[in-house]
Amino acid sequence: AANRTFSIIKPDATRRNLTGAVTKMLEDAGLRVVASKRIQMTRKQAEGFYAVHKERPFFDDLVAFMISGPVVVQVLEGEDAVKRNRDIMGATNPENAAEGTIRKAHAESIEANSVHGSDSDENAATEIAFFFKPEEIVG
Ligand code: CMP
Repeated sequence: AANRTFSIIKPDATRRNLTGAVTKMLEDAGLRVVASKRIQMTRKQAEGFYAVHKERPFFDDLVAFMISGPVVVQVLEGEDAVKRNRDIMGATNPENAAEGTIRKAHAESIEANSVHGSDSDENAATEIAFFFKPEEIVG
């Protein structure tokens, strides 16, 4: 069924002027951008967004990276949007990402891996609500 997922174009990608290139790969994969904004995340926002990873050894570095430059937060809509987005993103570690994926094409490292995408419908709803008001999403 058509549904929604949440995406972030990360600072390594915005820094290299890849917002359009990444968005084109999402669109070519059958996803529609129904909300989008470029923001500078605050430390508080980044810590809140990644709260599930708080106890992980990479948490402090992850937060520092995510606030190191602008990001583009997006809501994507399409058939099986969560899975479709995860497929086009590729594996978290670009060394393991398949040919044709965003991370294979553009990611620099497991941290600077160009994109984030929700891993379940439930998390997608939570993550969308973290950054967007309902009226900012236009399907
Ligand atoms: P993301 O989908 O945004 O969710 C958490 C992020 O932590 C992940 O993508 C990676 O970019 C980042 N990260 C950094 N180091 C690691 C690691 N060792 N294992 C998993 N994720 C990591």
